[in-house]
Amino acid sequence: MADKEMKGIILAGGAGTRLYPLTKVTSKQLLPVYNKPMIQYPLETLIRAGIKDILIIVAPDHAGDFLKCLGSGREYGCHFTYEIQDKPEGIAQAFMIGQDFIDHDNVTLILGDNLYEDDFSEAIKTFETGGRIFAKRVSDPQRFGVVEFDENNRAISIEEKPQNPKSEFSVTGLYIYDSTVIDKVKALAFSDRGELEITDVNNLYLAENKLDVAFVEGRWFDTGTFESMHEAISFARDRHLAKEARSL
Ligand code: DAU
Repeated sequence: MADKEMKGIILAGGAGTRLYPLTKVTSKQLLPVYNKPMIQYPLETLIRAGIKDILIIVAPDHAGDFLKCLGSGREYGCHFTYEIQDKPEGIAQAFMIGQDFIDHDNVTLILGDNLYEDDFSEAIKTFETGGRIFAKRVSDPQRFGVVEFDENNRAISIEEKPQNPKSEFSVTGLYIYDSTVIDKVKALAFSDRGELEITDVNNLYLAENKLDVAFVEGRWFDTGTFESMHEAISFARDRHLAKEARSL
């Protein structure tokens, strides 16, 4: 729908307990990933895709540091809005917090700790309605949302951190939805771990036959563990040095 704008949300709350003690004095998404704070990578992914109106959701503890780090957005030719998530009650809660911001527009949510090599401009430009998510083959699907496909490559189920994953395809941390996502989240119950689950949102779109599962082609990192953070840093370093070499 041409009259709908694409808004962006970066979810950068949470307690970062898996990266303790690094997160004792700051937020996980402000930690350095080679030469930039982690959150700058998902921010650049949204900006590269042409999104200019961006809501940044942060935890109360270090909210001022995010503002200091990213500012108003003017420097990037964008407009940033900030909201607080009082408690980490689930990724899907971002759409409750952001409901006035989204209004009747479409929205792309990216997790503040996800780093992508891909350019999502086309996926965002061609999005009209429903939901679109991005899967990637991984060696440790138990850590993620896992998509099961039928023989025609159509998604048939999505499970959050299954003990016996039905495929090796993880749902990655970038989600494109129409504004019906707000009502979908309002209808959700909290899961056993006390969260509004993004996997439940995806299953609602799937049940309506409105979920498009695309694939991530380039590298993707969820920097949720020391190991994955280390890999992301070395990827960011290689990419930075290659860019510098090209500009010589
Ligand atoms: O990275 C992709 C995975 O992200 C998906 O495959 C899973 O389906 C999805 O549940 C999520 O899994 P994680 O275990 O990585 O989620 P985690 O709780 O680590 O949260 C991801 C990021 O979102 C993290 O940077 C903190 C932030 N967050 C998380 C929650 C639950 C918030 O800001 N608020 C929250 O309430």
